Amino acid sequence: MTGPLSKKRIVLGVTGSIACYKSIDLASKFTQAGAEVDVILTDSATKFVTPLSFKSITHRQVVTNIFDINSELAVNHVALAEQADIFVIAPASANTIAKLANGLSDNALLTSVLATKSPIVIAPAMDANMFENAATQRNVATLMSDGMFIAGPAKGRLASGLTGLGRMVEPRDLVGVTEMVLGKNGDFSGKRIVVSAGGTQEAIDPVRTISNRSSGKMGYAIAEAARNRGATVTLVSAPTALPDLVGVRTIKIESALEMKEVLGEECNDAHSIIMAAAVADWRPVRTLKSKAKKSNKETWKINLTKNPDIIANIDSISSKESGNIVKVGFAAESENIIENSSAKISKKGLDFIVANDITAADSGFSVDTNKVTIIHADGTIEKLPLMSKYEVGNAILDRVKTGLDFK
Ligand code: PMT
Repeated sequence: MTGPLSKKRIVLGVTGSIACYKSIDLASKFTQAGAEVDVILTDSATKFVTPLSFKSITHRQVVTNIFDINSELAVNHVALAEQADIFVIAPASANTIAKLANGLSDNALLTSVLATKSPIVIAPAMDANMFENAATQRNVATLMSDGMFIAGPAKGRLASGLTGLGRMVEPRDLVGVTEMVLGKNGDFSGKRIVVSAGGTQEAIDPVRTISNRSSGKMGYAIAEAARNRGATVTLVSAPTALPDLVGVRTIKIESALEMKEVLGEECNDAHSIIMAAAVADWRPVRTLKSKAKKSNKETWKINLTKNPDIIANIDSISSKESGNIVKVGFAAESENIIENSSAKISKKGLDFIVANDITAADSGFSVDTNKVTIIHADGTIEKLPLMSKYEVGNAILDRVKTGLDFK
């Protein structure tokens, strides 16, 4: 199974900051994602971490000194810069940011940056006062206007013990930023995609809800794939345990009615709505204001009323800006998968539906993989092999793209 960083050549620049220890984790995450990672450490960085730590993870040479004749990479640093798909400088100290803003090249990292045409991500890490300093702010603004992507810094506890803006963005989020920057001119650039995810929760009282087994993984994977192809993505998410996706505007809702309201707004200028959420078909007629007490009764009847069909009510000509919107539904089925799913296409006015067999252990709810059948409005049926949910997301986007070309 391949992901967005598979076979990408990443140059990871590490500069002097206590946050250096996090870049070991970042190098590991990049490597695990299938990237070839070449690390360049500045002198100051070697005071915090050793080249051996990175070499043990990336299994590649680590550059520290441009004049090291034993290091092939150091000698060929210009070739390294030319071959890179992306540079990520994390952590980026105030000193390195200042030098970058002025085009200095007095170490291996700066020289390579000057020699590259690849996109560059900068993750600042420093004391909050240093970051707020007028000179640093000026330098950061220069890097932005030079086209570099500034990730962070984040707010939180700093090495000084104080709390402020200066923490390096977490490695997991930097992986997301790297994927997003690599894909920013992708085939969905300029397109607005709305995705729904998770299982809605219908409140019985302030404590109890009616919900389902959706983890949100399918919807989040689609949103991630769309972001990595350059789309502007809005994710409308029912409660999940998943971390937020960087670069994806996420609107959190609980109930089907809330999801309906938000999607109604968001779909107005969208090119496609991909409805991966498992929406509760029913909700309690009334939500109790305080927690229902246990009584001596052995049974408890709750009156339910039907939720509106959200996707069916998103008008296929509601997209003001783009003309028609490509409507994609999902079908969670346990029997007669093709017949049941096909019936939903016309009922809900879909362009196509993605049917998953929720009885298979490696498909449907909660797992990281899915085996889906895509059924189109014209009756065409495509059975796809078992894939990661991210790959399923890309397969769906490929078909959305075809739909957009026709509309
Ligand atoms: O979140 P995961 O753990 O990764 O699991 C993924 C998933 C199994 C939830 C997902 O792949 C999936 O199948 N989602 C749709 C589940 C579902 O509700 O299917 P349905 O057959 O009940 O509904 C059909 C379509 O109509 C769906 O796109 C649904 O979002 C939509 N719908 C349903 C009811 C309703 N009131 N309004 C709707 O818009």
